[in-house]
Amino acid sequence: MSENTTTTAVKRVFVKTWGCQMNVYDSERMTGLLKPLGYAPTDVVDDADLVILNTCHIREKAAEKVYSELGRLKPLKEERGMQIAVAGCVAQAEGAEITARAPQVDIVFGPQSYHKLPEMIARAARDKGEVLETHFDVEEKFDALAAHREADGYTAFVTVQEGCDKFCTFCVVPYTRGAEVSRHVDMITAEVRQLAAQGVREITLLGQNVNAWQSPAPAGTSGDAWGLGQLCRHLARVDGIDRIRFTTSHPRDMDDELIAAFGEEEKLMPYLHLPVQAGSDRILKAMNRGHTAESYIRTIEIIRAARPDIAISGDMIVGFPGEDDAAFEDTMALVREINYASCFSFKYSRRPGTPGATMAKQVAEDVKNERLQRLQALLEDQKQAFNAAQVGRTLPVLFEKHGRQAGQLIGRSPYLQSVFAVGDPALLGQIVDVRIDGTMTNSLAGSLARDAA
Ligand code: SAH
Ligand code: SF4
Ligand code: F3S
Repeated sequence: MSENTTTTAVKRVFVKTWGCQMNVYDSERMTGLLKPLGYAPTDVVDDADLVILNTCHIREKAAEKVYSELGRLKPLKEERGMQIAVAGCVAQAEGAEITARAPQVDIVFGPQSYHKLPEMIARAARDKGEVLETHFDVEEKFDALAAHREADGYTAFVTVQEGCDKFCTFCVVPYTRGAEVSRHVDMITAEVRQLAAQGVREITLLGQNVNAWQSPAPAGTSGDAWGLGQLCRHLARVDGIDRIRFTTSHPRDMDDELIAAFGEEEKLMPYLHLPVQAGSDRILKAMNRGHTAESYIRTIEIIRAARPDIAISGDMIVGFPGEDDAAFEDTMALVREINYASCFSFKYSRRPGTPGATMAKQVAEDVKNERLQRLQALLEDQKQAFNAAQVGRTLPVLFEKHGRQAGQLIGRSPYLQSVFAVGDPALLGQIVDVRIDGTMTNSLAGSLARDAA
């Protein structure tokens, strides 16, 4: 297939992506899907015959961005007449509103429909009207994705699970991505083998609740359903794959098998993104998280016992309805107790249709701002301390690309830190020992251990 797809590209597609890694993965797959139709990707929107905005609905700001982007595209469309498609979670949540507010849009489709893109493009061109596709059919999408996958570099995302049944009261994801669905282990293995054959050495398994992943055992074997721990061990045996990561996990689904894999499977990298959102049990309950601060702390203790050097990362929300000063101090206390290697933090954003939006005791914006600042200062200190603790150590780094300065290569440490070092470009795609010499704001500087020796 690849032979006749690369040569005859006559049209250009510009894709802009917001939101989580699953959107990044989906965008890559859309580009792949369009190649056989003669679409080559472009970074220049002015050259595009088709513009795809792959959108995120998680916070108000994220959702607004699509409308300002559409405003910018309007004159361009009038001039050049390209097709405009809005994909992703805003499309799923506000499909009808998009077509009403932005008539320049030709196609609106949700995250579960993009495998129908070729057909939608043809339909929009033929009918000269809007096409709206927001049905949930994740299994059909997963089937459609079984086809050829082209690797782009030495690392790759692989979706294994999509959707969420947890219904945290602040979150739109269960509405935009639908119920939890897992991909079958054999399909995942086939995709990973394809990637490995093209030189990929590190895979990141993706899911909105990736550790809720479950599949019947591989074809030809017997036994119980598999969980994520078994999947990681299984994929570790694919030739060429040296590093495995996964994201995002939920504290309720951290089972013993998965925790044990961190201790035993050396290809499973010592980095875990395990969001807790808040440190007050009262707020966690109002958020419908299904765990307490104590149970989260205990889970982390067990994980650290299995893999002492593991880097813990997370997500925090400040200013959820009902969060008073004492509840916020509980969040600060939990953060001090966990000591994160890195952690994202957000101001609560009221999302229409979620239970949180109509709760009493919404928190004032200036209070949210002040809390976020304090929390972020603490998290930044923790991150810098974690990075500083690597100085003097030698870490295996998978070099992925050239740095901005001549001769420089960039890669990732096992803990997902960016590491810069001067080295031969032949080292790209290799895992090399790097001595860490110093830290920068968001990365580490090192030198090849064999040069340093
Ligand atoms: N499935 C993942 C990620 C969900 S979205 C999980 O459960 O962890 C990523 C992060 O965005 C969440 O972890 C949460 O911290 C944040 N988030 C989600 N909804 C939000 C809202 N309404 N306001 C502010 N932050 C939000
Ligand atoms: Fe959203 Fe909660 Fe599901 Fe994560 S677990 S996607 S925060 S509802
Ligand atoms: Fe955003 Fe949808 Fe991902 S809302 S965070 S793009 S699942």
